[in-house]
Amino acid sequence: MPITRRLFALLTILGMLSWAHLAPVIAAESAAMPTVLITGANRGIGIEFARQYAERGWIVIASCRNPDSAKDLQALQRNHENLQLVQIDLVDSAGIDQFAQSLNGKPIDVLINNAALLGDLKTQLFGQIDYEQFTQILAVNAIGTMKLSESLTPNIRLGTQKKIITLGSSAGSIASINGNPDLYAYRASKAALHLLMRNLSFELADDGIVVGIINPGLVDTRGFAEMLAGTKPIPPEFQQIVNLLKAGVIQLSTPEAAVTDMIALIDELAPEQSGVFLNADGTPLPW
Ligand SMILES: NC(=O)c1ccc[n+]([C@@H]2O[C@H](COP(=O)([O-])OP(=O)(O)OC[C@H]3O[C@@H](n4cnc5c(N)ncnc54)[C@H](OP(=O)(O)O)[C@@H]3O)[C@@H](O)[C@H]2O)c1
Repeated sequence: MPITRRLFALLTILGMLSWAHLAPVIAAESAAMPTVLITGANRGIGIEFARQYAERGWIVIASCRNPDSAKDLQALQRNHENLQLVQIDLVDSAGIDQFAQSLNGKPIDVLINNAALLGDLKTQLFGQIDYEQFTQILAVNAIGTMKLSESLTPNIRLGTQKKIITLGSSAGSIASINGNPDLYAYRASKAALHLLMRNLSFELADDGIVVGIINPGLVDTRGFAEMLAGTKPIPPEFQQIVNLLKAGVIQLSTPEAAVTDMIALIDELAPEQSGVFLNADGTPLPW
């Protein structure tokens, strides 16, 4: 509990103040809470970011493509008046411009570029590549994320924390590909995204803006735990990942644990970590 509230609580217990005195203090504190904007906040890692930041009392601008059908996010909003639901589609450049204008100079402390398109795995294998899907994956993951970051930079400049955080992926690490040539489109989109964010880190260094590029690791947003437990069938495209999990070659984390780690990292992210590709535990990863 912040010190002002603790003091008011003590004075209230001592009978020197009523809780009516406390309401303006809580309102003033809420106004002073940082603002985070999260993309793709309707499911997976995104909704967990929204939940954890909302629980902390931050002002959460939770964006998704279709707020009307985002039932889980709507439920979260009902329990958190500090969470606002907005519509952002990363492939809608005009819509992004409109959204940025509608903010009317509102500061954003932390932008979390979480949204991404993984796409169908089969049509990202050599010999079966669907180039329309390839284009769409690049448009969302690399170009759309760049566009949103550029459009919201004036608001980040006005924030206190000044952080642009992007969820990258070890799948986009060129140095890490060894004998597993799959995911042509998704890997290319994440490699491009890493490059764009590193560029941006130099662009915005003089503004004091820290650009974080974080690999969340394998997070269970696809039901891998149930596949491992045998309670869910394993789709052929996930068989290899499940084999690696069974062999203990890769580790699986829950959205809750992964987001807790990433928020701790984001809280402490220093200027010298700007434009560095990091694991959720803060260790640097090769490009
Ligand atoms: N999960 C992992 O193991 C893992 C590993 C490495 C990196 N990552 C990265 O972590 C982030 C979150 O992963 P996740 O597993 O939570 O992903 P997810 O479950 O597939 O969710 C992706 C989110 O992105 C949104 N999205 C897709 N296209 C969009 C568009 N055009 N405009 C706006 N939003 C769009 C989706 O919205 P709809 O619901 O409308 O489709 C959804 O909210 C991604 O950047 C991913 O690449 C994840």
